[in-house]
Amino acid sequence: MKIKIAKLPGDGIGPEVVEQAVKAIDAVAKKFGHEVEYTFGYVGACAIDRFGNAFPDETYQTCLDADAVLFGAVGDPKYDNDPTAKVRPEQGLLAMRKQLGLFANLRPVETFKSLINKSPLKPELVDGADFLCLRELTGGMYFGAKGREDNGDTAYDTNLYHRYEVERILRLGYEYARKRRSHLTVVDKANVLESSRLWRQIAQEMAPQYPDVTTDYMYVDNAAMKLITGPKFFDVMVTENTFGDILTDEASCISGSMGLLASASVGEKTGVFEPIHGSYPQAAGKNIANPLATILSAAMLLEHLGLLEEGAAVRKAVAASIDACYVTEDLANGGECHSTSEVGDWVAAQI
Ligand code: IPM
Ligand code: MN
Repeated sequence: MKIKIAKLPGDGIGPEVVEQAVKAIDAVAKKFGHEVEYTFGYVGACAIDRFGNAFPDETYQTCLDADAVLFGAVGDPKYDNDPTAKVRPEQGLLAMRKQLGLFANLRPVETFKSLINKSPLKPELVDGADFLCLRELTGGMYFGAKGREDNGDTAYDTNLYHRYEVERILRLGYEYARKRRSHLTVVDKANVLESSRLWRQIAQEMAPQYPDVTTDYMYVDNAAMKLITGPKFFDVMVTENTFGDILTDEASCISGSMGLLASASVGEKTGVFEPIHGSYPQAAGKNIANPLATILSAAMLLEHLGLLEEGAAVRKAVAASIDACYVTEDLANGGECHSTSEVGDWVAAQI
């Protein structure tokens, strides 16, 4: 198969970790006889520096023309504490989500036995936790009307949702639940928010169409607690944009290392695959960042293109690197550790 992948390394450690995922993809291509072509696009702070725009049109076109996008991270400390900055790297990410219609963000949380001791939770709570957070990504407060009034002293963001937006993400939630353990938890704040009442109403309408799936409803505050007190309860959790942002950061800690968590954003056009850890500017250029989350994102990319065996080969190699303790500092438990590129080479060789 011919595969065209748009590489958008972005900022911070993005370029280093994306390069390791490329090695894994190339190894898979060689093993399974695929031909991969890479294109390149700027996004985030590096795009602002060059074009004055965090998601330039050229990059959008590059994404559209590809079968999938392999994305690193955006963000640069020089923008972080300046509330008056007119352009921000994060705008590139939001523009990419909106323009590519990436309405569904999939963040799977799984645990690796040999790393259970790294979790801040008790091992018996974590061992066996395996769930999928499905976050709505192009609606809600992130994109609803926002502004200032009263000479800037009053501010608002609108948590706007349309029926079609809720239906399509819930449908995806049901489809994933069917492929997993047939349990969907709809997370909302329907005791307070009108938008949440719409979510719950639509979920209740749809539930009878999926009699094989158990649907339950949970308030977001309760869900935040349940993630810590009983993460094994969850199979597929589906929620709106802002709640999903917060809960997925919380969920990412369960496994003990953010450096292992991959994500996919899919929707109307080309899908985007990225680690969830962000740009980690303190480590940029030092060849110390953990590349495994990005390599696992490459596995999600391959699986999304229907290349299931290929994805499994990548996952197996990542699991082998963890089992063999051939890992970066964050996972090394004080033992011998390896550089970003060494781990990338090791995983590729394993494939
Ligand atoms: C994420 C990030 C982004 C978000 C930021 C960088 C805009 O936190 O992908 O979760 O809030 O969605
Ligand atoms: Mn976030």
